[in-house]
Amino acid sequence: MTEATEIPIGGRAAACPFAPVAELYEAQKDDALRRVSVPSPMLGAFDAVVVTRYEDVKSVLADDHLRMGGSMPYQAGNLLSYDGPEHTRLRRMLTGSFTTKRARELRPQIAGVVDSALDAVAAAGPGADLVQLFCTPIPTLVICELLGVPYADREEFQQRTVVALDFSSSREVQMQKAAEMEAYMAGLVARHREEPGDNVLGRVVREFGDQLTDSELAGIGNMLLIAGHETIANTLSAAIALLLQHPDQLAVVRDDPEAVDGAVEELLRYCAPAAILPRQASGNICVRDQEIKEGERVVASVLAANRDLGDADQDLDRLDVRRPVQRHLTFGFGPHQCLGQQLARMELRVALPALFARFPDLRLAVPQEELDYRTNALVFGVNSLPVAW
Ligand code: HEM
Repeated sequence: MTEATEIPIGGRAAACPFAPVAELYEAQKDDALRRVSVPSPMLGAFDAVVVTRYEDVKSVLADDHLRMGGSMPYQAGNLLSYDGPEHTRLRRMLTGSFTTKRARELRPQIAGVVDSALDAVAAAGPGADLVQLFCTPIPTLVICELLGVPYADREEFQQRTVVALDFSSSREVQMQKAAEMEAYMAGLVARHREEPGDNVLGRVVREFGDQLTDSELAGIGNMLLIAGHETIANTLSAAIALLLQHPDQLAVVRDDPEAVDGAVEELLRYCAPAAILPRQASGNICVRDQEIKEGERVVASVLAANRDLGDADQDLDRLDVRRPVQRHLTFGFGPHQCLGQQLARMELRVALPALFARFPDLRLAVPQEELDYRTNALVFGVNSLPVAW
């Protein structure tokens, strides 16, 4: 194994933030696994073995001896804080609410939320910021639906969420809003304890309420809020920015309903918003005959793996929304693989074509070199997306 070289947090190239830095491509070709130093807002800089090949990333994410524990601060109810049987037990309580069928049933509500966001964009007129008016409100309002946040509370909930999750607000403001969110979530849990609604939180209370503490239930609510909000808002912003720079590909999403599902998979592959997935070895393990010792950190680079599908015939550095095979690891793999992936797909499948159908001549209102990408955050996206039509 080589000495640690520093890579930026998501491992994205400065010239094109959708692509991995050269070091990750080089690491992919090497037989020896590489060690990198990763800056992290939560953990400070840490050294880790970086895994970049598609098959290696899959095997690492499926390995029981590579744990989440230690990689993130513990939060009761947050699936990412648990491993092994404790994780399985909690995850089983939630899977029934996140099936493909459930995502399909939510389609009309999602379409309604998308339509009202489009009305807000139209009302704001050219120069409108899609991050503020489209990418952010859509997942927030869908989460309100899932958690059973009453209509009367939604605007306040949405505003609080935006500020709590906005890394550009000051630490103090973020903490204050996060505390308000936690208090709100505790209140919501109390309401569902009394009268469980017909939504994810209500269902968990009805079926498993006697096995969960109030703080675990509030933690589940907060996890769904954060996991379901940050990821989709950023993926939408990155996918729209990308398509606006590839008008031929945008035209496919706008004009060919049959192509939309495949196009969404290609956009997920190409954007890889959660570019690195951290783990820690709970025992000595082997990846391609190379030992990783107990306690060592491992970083799986989804960004690099999505461009290494073991198929030399495919030019995976190119965006091709009609690509016949769209395998990717954007939702992770193994026991922690994304619980909300079918919901995420549905939101993207509804929102993207609707946006381009409503504004067929949509274009960036700033030069593309001026787009402010979130390359330094855990989830990649664009901070603002001013458009005209
Ligand atoms: C495009 C949008 C999304 C992306 C790219 C994404 C990505 C991911 C990834 C990569 C993981 C695995 C993390 C790891 O192994 O370390 C994950 C886990 C998770 N995601 Fe998503 N996600 C998205 C949307 C959502 C939505 C909409 C929800 C729910 C409303 C959600 C809920 C979760 C939860 C609860 C976990 C933890 C699962 C576990 O630990 O068992 N995600 N997501």
